[in-house]
Amino acid sequence: MKNKIIQNISQYIQSEFAQETSGHDWWHIYRVWKMSQKLARGEKTDKLVLEVSALLHDIADWKFNDGDEKAGSKKARKLLDNYNISKDKIDQICHIIDNISYKGAKVKNKIESLEGKIVQDADRLDAMGAIGIARAFHYGGYKGRSIYDPEVRPVLHENKKAYLDSTAPTLNHFYEKLFLLKDMMNTEKAKLIAQKRHKYMVKFVIELKKECNI
Ligand code: ADP
Ligand code: NI
Repeated sequence: MKNKIIQNISQYIQSEFAQETSGHDWWHIYRVWKMSQKLARGEKTDKLVLEVSALLHDIADWKFNDGDEKAGSKKARKLLDNYNISKDKIDQICHIIDNISYKGAKVKNKIESLEGKIVQDADRLDAMGAIGIARAFHYGGYKGRSIYDPEVRPVLHENKKAYLDSTAPTLNHFYEKLFLLKDMMNTEKAKLIAQKRHKYMVKFVIELKKECNI
């Protein structure tokens, strides 16, 4: 029953995200789903809440919905009402979807449940390492941003509006978010993976700057 619901939702999301080109494609969702399962191994979590939250975490990103932070949970609730899932579990899933996203270096994190912490770690790990580098430049291209401009300094954003309005080159995103992620992991397992991915990104940025500053 639980597995059937998860399988159904994964098929729905796979078809919904087939055409997505901003870095939240099906394969991002798939990696977050699988990484969430890996991080949850040996922990006491609710399988349905964990996996459905992972599958639906980007269902309607606030960045693409005029800053409406509830856009995701509204869409998720409509979908989940078609399944035999308790209201309590739907509420837990919706809370995770509304609060998972990074909204600026100085904006407080509101995730509290273990399932939420795990899915948030899995989502953030996918913004790090080799895949994180690829996604950052992919997103930058999608947004028409330049790769590197040494004259534009990185900024630690105070609020989500400033973070959202930024038009800075993609390399700045490493200082504004990606290099901060290793210290923002919730779970011990994710911290270890994050350290490895962090080192890889640092090496990449050093090399890129070396090649650019001729
Ligand atoms: P989250 O899943 O935490 O909401 P985002 O939606 O912010 O993550 O980001 C999706 C992907 O796009 C990530 O790999 C992220 O690093 C990248 N990204 C987001 N904002 C920028 C930006 N300003 N410049 C480059 N890449 C970005
Ligand atoms: Ni995501």
